[in-house]
Amino acid sequence: MRRLLVAGNWKMHGNSASVKALLAGLVNLTWQQQVDIAVFPPALFIVEAVQSLKDTPIIIGAQDCAIESKEAALTGEIAASQLVDVGCQLVLIGHSERRLLLGDTDSILIEKFKAAQAQQLKPVLCIGETQQQRENNQTFAVITSQLNSIMDTLSIDVLANAIIAYEPVWAIGTGLTATPEQAQEVHSFIRSLIAEKNEAIAQKIQILYGGSVKADNAQALFAMPDIDGGLIGGASLNADEFGAIYRIAGNK
Ligand code: PGA
Repeated sequence: MRRLLVAGNWKMHGNSASVKALLAGLVNLTWQQQVDIAVFPPALFIVEAVQSLKDTPIIIGAQDCAIESKEAALTGEIAASQLVDVGCQLVLIGHSERRLLLGDTDSILIEKFKAAQAQQLKPVLCIGETQQQRENNQTFAVITSQLNSIMDTLSIDVLANAIIAYEPVWAIGTGLTATPEQAQEVHSFIRSLIAEKNEAIAQKIQILYGGSVKADNAQALFAMPDIDGGLIGGASLNADEFGAIYRIAGNK
């Protein structure tokens, strides 16, 4: 039985006051042993989050890392080694906003994935199709190519220490959620692709769903057999709503 993970991606949101308030809200959640919980603050607030949440089970992650795993002359970037040094354990790799708006190509993402694992920072590999790709029946082809880019270039073994997040681009921040059945169909496809190469890794890997997850749709999504939790954007900026989703995950 896989553990569920409820993870909050704050994206480029928050300022000194709102982050303080959000962290104070998170500290007051009621902890559940059977569910993992994580937040991905903007880099600027990672140190504060680590400090404020040090007595909680909340795992801290970064939203991105550099292609070089260690300190280097790369203005504006942050190395996996630096993230680990301040207390990060996870890093998002290939969020669709980075792929579509910020120039993260498959080949850059391979380097970032490698850099993260070189420092024992666990990658959360984000994959998903756009609305147009879904309408053109390319969903499985896109997922296959995004996943194969990592599995074939590195090796299947790298997925033994990674998490996958399926995030259909058309459902991110739009209020449109994939139905539980639509999400399950892709999650099970992802697991079968991995299983073709390594059954044990496929059964073990957590596959999160992301895209307009809220307290009122989480139950049905998390009930699906291949959905192992959520990567939550908008709803993770409110500690009560995020806490409600975390509680729902505990009911699976
Ligand atoms: P959303 O974002 O929950 O606001 O749709 C999810 C994500 O992009 O990770």
